[in-house]
Amino acid sequence: MDEASAAMAPPGADRASSPPPGQAASPQAPQTGGIPDEIRAKVEDGTALLRQGLFAEAADLFGDAIAARPDWPMPYNNLAVALRGMGRLEEALLACAAALRHRPDYPEAFANLARILLALGRYRDAAIAAEQAARLRPDHTAMHALRAMALLKDKAPGESLPVCRTALALDPAGVEVLTVLAQALDAVGRPAEALSAARRGAALVPSRRESLIVLGSLLTDRNLRDEALAVYRRAMELDPNDTVLAHLVHAIGGTNSAKAPEAYVANVFDSYADRFDEHLVKTLQYKAHEIVAQAAVAALPPDTGARILDIGCGTGLCGPTLRPAAARLVGVDLSARMLDKARDRNLYDALARAELVQFMAETDERFDAIVSADVLCYFGDLTEVFRAAAGVLEPGGLLAFTVERQEEPGYRLTASGRYVHGLDHLRDGARGLFRARTIDNVILRTEASVPVHGYLCVFQRLRHAVH
Ligand SMILES: C[S@@+](CC[C@H](N)C(=O)[O-])C[C@H]1O[C@@H](n2cnc3c(N)ncnc32)[C@H](O)[C@@H]1O
Repeated sequence: MDEASAAMAPPGADRASSPPPGQAASPQAPQTGGIPDEIRAKVEDGTALLRQGLFAEAADLFGDAIAARPDWPMPYNNLAVALRGMGRLEEALLACAAALRHRPDYPEAFANLARILLALGRYRDAAIAAEQAARLRPDHTAMHALRAMALLKDKAPGESLPVCRTALALDPAGVEVLTVLAQALDAVGRPAEALSAARRGAALVPSRRESLIVLGSLLTDRNLRDEALAVYRRAMELDPNDTVLAHLVHAIGGTNSAKAPEAYVANVFDSYADRFDEHLVKTLQYKAHEIVAQAAVAALPPDTGARILDIGCGTGLCGPTLRPAAARLVGVDLSARMLDKARDRNLYDALARAELVQFMAETDERFDAIVSADVLCYFGDLTEVFRAAAGVLEPGGLLAFTVERQEEPGYRLTASGRYVHGLDHLRDGARGLFRARTIDNVILRTEASVPVHGYLCVFQRLRHAVH
């Protein structure tokens, strides 16, 4: 559940001192009594190593135990915990499956399976596995909590709510469940109860980062900025190096910064990816992808088969307009889940998961056009972006992009976590690199039913750009 602490010692390990499965727990399972002491000791030692986060060492010991007693389910389950800790999720799934093959009524293995499936983003499957765990251990809050979390992640807050209630009936101070409950209530449109659940969770364990983040985000949504800022600052005290929190503190506190951190962008878009197209295009009347891609295609010489780079390609919404004009179409983005969606479109010749400035600085490819729709609002200072873009564009190549507009000079981080840009910053950043062919005022989308104003820019790389 709590992936931050899970990184050190993932939950789900079973204790070697518990009775050998297949005896008391499951009359159907094969009898596996008489595990030799030295094998049992290996599993005990491995479990202790898991708690210290020494996953590889632990995995070796569980592997030894499995080799000695392949019919004993517990080492498979604990091996799965170790593999999950190492990020080897597919292998962890196999180990879990082996544990369950040897003991089909093994609640910890079902819970472990649910955690692995959660990490793989297979939320519905995770909910089903957690349901099995909860059926076998109806009195364990953690099993219900896991199921509630999986249902929330599977965008089924209405299903998650009664499961949260079951868990809280068992443990009214279950802080993980309160955090899930707060998000589920918020998602089904019960804002006051959501806030109260989040406040309760944060008060119960003031040192739990995730509870503070959920509370901070609910407070921000309700424009309770001072309280949100105090909550995020409290969370930052727990980890002063947390760049995501630092960004939120800057955004709400009204202080500027140069760029949204990579972890922030990846988190936001990994969790938005499943509903991005539907929500943005239909609900928020998003237009930036169309206007940027159309402007780039219109500015390219006709029928030349351009090499086009889509920086911050997201789910690939620009792809359908760009593809017919492109001999080669490459996309780059920080969010793995957004890229998965782009891959499904089958329009891009290559898709790279990378930070866009770094990608442009390192690639050997050259392009005739770069497009960037609604991406540079995650940068304050655009100098590095322009310089890197000039470096990969052919002389005369095009850079078509949008930014959110402010009338004041410079750039500014807003409470939304995005930046707005003044015209002077665009012109200053382009100097010596690009000629501004066009800069137009456009509406990018709506936010809370209010239009978001932006600039649509088409820049052309100077023949002798100094980058
Ligand atoms: C609002 S979405 C727009 C996606 C796409 N251009 C479109 O119009 O549908 C912004 C995208 O930019 C990506 N992004 C933001 N900053 C980035 C960076 N520094 N490097 C790579 N991708 C970035 C995000 O991950 C996200 O997918």
